[in-house]
Amino acid sequence: MGEFKAFAVEQYLSELEHGVQYNFSESGVHPMSYAELCDLADIDRDALFATLVDYPQVNGNQLLRERIAALYPKAHADNVLVTVGATEANTLVAATLLEDGDNVIRFSPTYEQLAGNAHNLGFEVRTVDMLPSRAWAIDGDGLTAAVDERTRIIHVVNPNNPTGQVLSDEDREAIIAAARGVGAWIVADEVYSGTERNSDEPTPSFWGNYERVIAINSMSKAYGLPGLRLGWLLAPASLISDFWRRHEYASITATMMSMHLAAAALAPTARDAITARARRLIRRGFDTLQEQLAHHPEVFSVVPPQASAMSFVKFNLPVDSDTFASRLLGEEDVLVIPGSRFGVEGHFRFSSALPDEHLRAGLARMNALTGRILGSA
Ligand SMILES: Cc1ncc(COP(=O)(O)O)c(C=O)c1O
Repeated sequence: MGEFKAFAVEQYLSELEHGVQYNFSESGVHPMSYAELCDLADIDRDALFATLVDYPQVNGNQLLRERIAALYPKAHADNVLVTVGATEANTLVAATLLEDGDNVIRFSPTYEQLAGNAHNLGFEVRTVDMLPSRAWAIDGDGLTAAVDERTRIIHVVNPNNPTGQVLSDEDREAIIAAARGVGAWIVADEVYSGTERNSDEPTPSFWGNYERVIAINSMSKAYGLPGLRLGWLLAPASLISDFWRRHEYASITATMMSMHLAAAALAPTARDAITARARRLIRRGFDTLQEQLAHHPEVFSVVPPQASAMSFVKFNLPVDSDTFASRLLGEEDVLVIPGSRFGVEGHFRFSSALPDEHLRAGLARMNALTGRILGSA
């Protein structure tokens, strides 16, 4: 087995984000309070408080699994396993599907959860680039060259973290064709579906487009409820018990309270209200970010994200991304994620779906540091 590889992005967040004044390093929308959730989802507070602090149904209660299944074409409750966030789902998939000699395809830049797990389990991970010169489209030739008979998983994060781009139809088809050619699984992490900036239509799932798809999602991003720690995977029913057996080792279950709240939030009317809140924050936040980056047009540029609360901002300064991020933190109490954590220099990831005044104040600090760097260059 190779050397253990830490989860570079999550390590950066968990070591640095607490206590920071302007935290733009997260990847979701500004989270809501329990009170706001109860109001938006019309949750009966007495019924909520009467919930036992007990173990719930370990694979997810029936109502919750039915509401999750209803989000996908031709899915049923027995296609769903409820997990502790998308994090557990990604971890279970790596631990369950891979066998000796298998390889995994990842796209870069991306969120490393599944690929990192696969690497740490001793499997080969092959990287296919997404190209900044083509608005982060996939390198189709690179994909064809990377896939072989031992490719077991093609992992896609769609919409993508950190770029916020949605795969084009052409790229989706290329991925499906590559998987079909060798019988690989497409594991689609779709936590940012529902966070689109220019459309109220959620990015379609890979589920239903090809027989060997595992779709992963959670309440953390499009719903603004990361602290519920509630996610799921959708898989052919015959595979669910294999994941469920690992789930019993990994966490046993999500919590009773989180299942209760998630089921309420996924009722159709509540869901519309909650995702509308997220989209409002995402759209206004990106407009403010663009307006503030325009103070230094010679420095900052960004391929506008099609979805998600994040932008992968390119900067042209005589410092690398680690230095820029650490000076922002040390001198301005502002946290962003350096592109180096995604293996891409000259960029940082910035999260903007936040209350506007706070966002503006933090961006003013980033512009102040940028001015100082330019002044001393
Ligand atoms: C693409 C992606 N997948 C999964 C996760 C983890 O989400 P969860 O909070 O559901 O565990 C994140 C969190 O940033 C993410 O960006």
